[in-house]
Amino acid sequence: MHQDIPFFCLIVFLLIGSSLVSPLYDGPIYDSTAYTECKEQPEEALYQGGIFQSQSQSWVYEDGISFYGYMPSFLLHNLTQDTMYCFSVWVKIEGSSSGKIRASLQTENETHNCIGTVSAKSGCWSFLKGGFVLNQPSNFSILFFQNTNGEDISIELASPSLKPFTKEQWRVNQQYIINTKRKQAATVHVSDIKGRRVQGATMTIEQVSKEFPFGSAIANTILGNLPYQNWFVKRFNAAVFENELKWYATEPNQGKNLTGIQLQAAIDSRIQSLLSQYKEEFIHWDVSNEMLHYDFYEQRLGPDATLHFFETAHKLDPLTTLFMNDFNVVETCSDVNSTVDAYISRLRELQHNGVFMDGIGLESHFTVPNLPLVRAILDKFATLDLPVWLTEVDISKTLDKDAQGIYLEEVLREGFSHPSVNGIMLWTALHPEGCYEMCLTDNDFRNLPAGDVVDKLLQEWQTGFIEGVTDEHGSFSFYGFLGDYRISVRYENRTENSTFSLSGGQETKHFTIGL
Ligand SMILES: *[C@@H]1O[C@H](CO)[C@@H](O)[C@H](O)[C@H]1NC(C)=O
Ligand SMILES: *[C@@H]1O[C@H](CO)[C@@H](O)[C@H](O)[C@H]1NC(C)=O
Ligand SMILES: *[C@@H]1O[C@H](CO)[C@@H](O)[C@H](O)[C@H]1NC(C)=O
Ligand SMILES: *[C@@H]1O[C@H](CO)[C@@H](O)[C@H](O)[C@H]1NC(C)=O
Ligand SMILES: *[C@@H]1O[C@H](CO)[C@@H](O)[C@H](O)[C@H]1NC(C)=O
Ligand SMILES: *[C@@H]1O[C@H](CO)[C@@H](O)[C@H](O)[C@H]1NC(C)=O
Ligand SMILES: *[C@@H]1O[C@H](CO)[C@@H](O)[C@H](O)[C@H]1NC(C)=O
Repeated sequence: MHQDIPFFCLIVFLLIGSSLVSPLYDGPIYDSTAYTECKEQPEEALYQGGIFQSQSQSWVYEDGISFYGYMPSFLLHNLTQDTMYCFSVWVKIEGSSSGKIRASLQTENETHNCIGTVSAKSGCWSFLKGGFVLNQPSNFSILFFQNTNGEDISIELASPSLKPFTKEQWRVNQQYIINTKRKQAATVHVSDIKGRRVQGATMTIEQVSKEFPFGSAIANTILGNLPYQNWFVKRFNAAVFENELKWYATEPNQGKNLTGIQLQAAIDSRIQSLLSQYKEEFIHWDVSNEMLHYDFYEQRLGPDATLHFFETAHKLDPLTTLFMNDFNVVETCSDVNSTVDAYISRLRELQHNGVFMDGIGLESHFTVPNLPLVRAILDKFATLDLPVWLTEVDISKTLDKDAQGIYLEEVLREGFSHPSVNGIMLWTALHPEGCYEMCLTDNDFRNLPAGDVVDKLLQEWQTGFIEGVTDEHGSFSFYGFLGDYRISVRYENRTENSTFSLSGGQETKHFTIGL
């Protein structure tokens, strides 16, 4: 059989080649390039500048010239509604050693307060990547830059790029990543007891589990609630406690006025008791939640407080993945505490001090998502080569239930089709009085629009039941979502049942079933 393998690979290669990107697609391919290091020289513009290439006369700012106290800007003509505009530029500042620079967009009618941010420095170039989508077309807009702390500095720009994608082009690009990262090609070879290939064997193939963790928060309301439990396990392969493991939920003696030493002892004892009790039972720990926004422990215990928590947690349960987790990181870029660069800088600081930080948690509490910005931010995180999880996905209850469904679908597709996202958790724990921001169902487990979206995507992102027949080479090829599979092969009066896994990779996976 061995000499046959290259031949099969060729066949499967052709098969995939034709199904990954439609040969009819001649639109742009999304460029996921990003940088998080400050560089001596700026790199080339993405997409060779995109529409800036052909509209260079409309820049107010001329590439490479800087004026003290002058904020450069771009004039943009004829922007269209619902187009995904991807923006990037290299930034260098003068007049201060570092600054948080925000790009904003003003149209005739709308202000987009933040379409991208970068922590810039003097003396080297930093990469800003973001984007925007307009609700209304605009004949004339201005894209401008500000230093968020108001300090008077000058900003120098290089290699700007603005690239539009239609919704359809965006979707094709998402599907391409799903086909290459979330699925794999497989070839089943069927041979008889003497090793001869068997043509005409029939088989059924069924996906029994999914590799991609897709889950939801649960609350204590699930205890003893059999309908809730059944509903949950039928859909999800991951769960997280909404609040039940937070300190306030497990602490019987609250409101004590502790000194620094007592507080440190209380923390050590809490980490010790929790991690010993659940050692090796949890796949992730979010050791210190939302620490880009709150610094209670640092205030009380000094600058290394969080570092110490992570060290203690790692010692107690070395195999679990330790996460940072925060809000307003992918949701928006207008929160200066939690920009992607602020997150990465905190992460590097912890790693530099020896913390075994393994994962990036992005809460993802969205209102109207800005997809080009979400993707740009994920691209920056991807440069760290750490697992990224969307940990608390929901859509604000300030929107109606239909809008929640529409935007939830956009966010879930964006997450699933970013190669660095390793898992998605919804923040939809059900309580009799409702959910935090968004429920999937009513209290009788009848779907709301958001629940319909989840059920649709769960279905779309799994391999349906496959029936196949081996060809003259005794093989059958298919293309499946990553996960575990059950296969049953029949030929004449013989049946062989087996299992296999598709766990990802560029190459076609080969299995041999003997009858
Ligand atoms: C914008 O559109 C108007 C009307 O279609 C056209 O006259 C104008 O030349 C366009 N401007 C640019 C910069 O393309
Ligand atoms: C600006 O918004 C108003 C109200 O939403 C709308 O009536 C008007 O047509 C908009 N103008 C443009 C240029 O989109
Ligand atoms: C934009 O340009 C179009 C075509 O020239 C025009 O009909 C429309 O009124 C303009 N809108 C604004 C807000 O200037
Ligand atoms: C806690 O102790 C500090 C210092 O002893 C005191 O200033 C503060 O009022 C106390 N707070 C409470 C809530 O008892
Ligand atoms: C940012 O974090 C600091 C503490 O580190 C806090 O005082 C401030 O209120 C935060 N700002 C926002 C907008 O959350
Ligand atoms: C299967 O069929 C073959 C002949 O086609 C026969 O010799 C054999 O006994 C059968 N085996 C079973 C398990 O029925
Ligand atoms: C093999 O799998 C098929 C389909 O899943 C099932 O109907 C059959 O009972 C299985 N046979 C054995 C021997 O396990």
